[in-house]
Amino acid sequence: MTDRLTIRRPDDWHVHLRDGAMLAAVAPLTATRFARAIVMPNLVPPVTTTAEAIAYRERIRAAVPASARFTPLMTAYLTDHTDPADLAAGAAQGVFTAVKLYPAHATTNSAHGVTDVAKLDKVFAAMERAGLPLLVHGEVTRPSVDVFDRETLFIDEVLDGLVQRHPGLRLVLEHITTRRAADYVLAAPERVAATITPHHLVINRTDIFRGGLRPHLYCLPIAKREEDRIALRRVATSGNAKFFLGTDSAPHGVEAKECACGAAGIFNVGAAIEVYAQVFDEEGALDRLEAFASLNGPRFYRLPPNEERIVLVRAQQPAPEAVGAGPTRVRAFPETALAWRIEPAA
Ligand code: NCD
Ligand code: ZN
Repeated sequence: MTDRLTIRRPDDWHVHLRDGAMLAAVAPLTATRFARAIVMPNLVPPVTTTAEAIAYRERIRAAVPASARFTPLMTAYLTDHTDPADLAAGAAQGVFTAVKLYPAHATTNSAHGVTDVAKLDKVFAAMERAGLPLLVHGEVTRPSVDVFDRETLFIDEVLDGLVQRHPGLRLVLEHITTRRAADYVLAAPERVAATITPHHLVINRTDIFRGGLRPHLYCLPIAKREEDRIALRRVATSGNAKFFLGTDSAPHGVEAKECACGAAGIFNVGAAIEVYAQVFDEEGALDRLEAFASLNGPRFYRLPPNEERIVLVRAQQPAPEAVGAGPTRVRAFPETALAWRIEPAA
């Protein structure tokens, strides 16, 4: 039995760092654990231009400890009015690493999102030329569609057409939650990949209601059936280079979660690597953790893997603690003890 594992330092290919006091509270956790992170642009208002991304990147750099070896990778929030020339300029200047597609009203802070992807062909063509990946929140948003069906319908109604129409577009289906999504990505061309969160590998939709309503397990896309969770575990631990780590850590203050209309988002960054390690251990796939956490992502993004290493040790650990204070107090996932810990660097 492996009790100790050395892997390259991981990157987080999907995280919400927020702004202001929340940014100050959560950014140090990401920066001390991950070497790089793809930072989501769904601020209020969203990060839509190169200039806004430069300014946000500065605020992130100011919020992380000076000693942290951490690089934030910025994304542009796609709207109906995105300027393809600005995206291309942002890519050329090394500001934008990717572009995020939120269907309008799909999730937290997505009111400015895209109403019809078919109208953005010029933008996608510019991204193909610039080599900018499109990161997709894959849910249809028609209120009549069952919330548990939104991802599978998105694949058929939107995603597949996008992949076909833009043969040079590299694309990540973010935070996949269904067997259908796992199968779609497996069968898709090489340029289509997916991120998988720790929580979707651990919980299913029944857990959200276990013994009562558990707002801290509510996120979007919402967790699906057990058979979906099993399919996600299978592809995540398979070693297939199309699947890589993205925590989707999405902090909301306790008051915003524990109320009559709770916000979607799970704050997991404090134990994400530990939870992934536990999942790979349970699946007998610890030898493939490094590929998922530290190699497949850089390969997709055409960046070098990190040279630094971390050491994971099998050891019982208490559940991660809440972070922040007052309105920025955030409860952490998971609420259960951990079976692995990261050994502090010597
Ligand atoms: C995210 C957030 O809070 O910004 N929420 C979530 O449930 N995942 C938005 C998102 O990634 O959908
Ligand atoms: Zn997200």
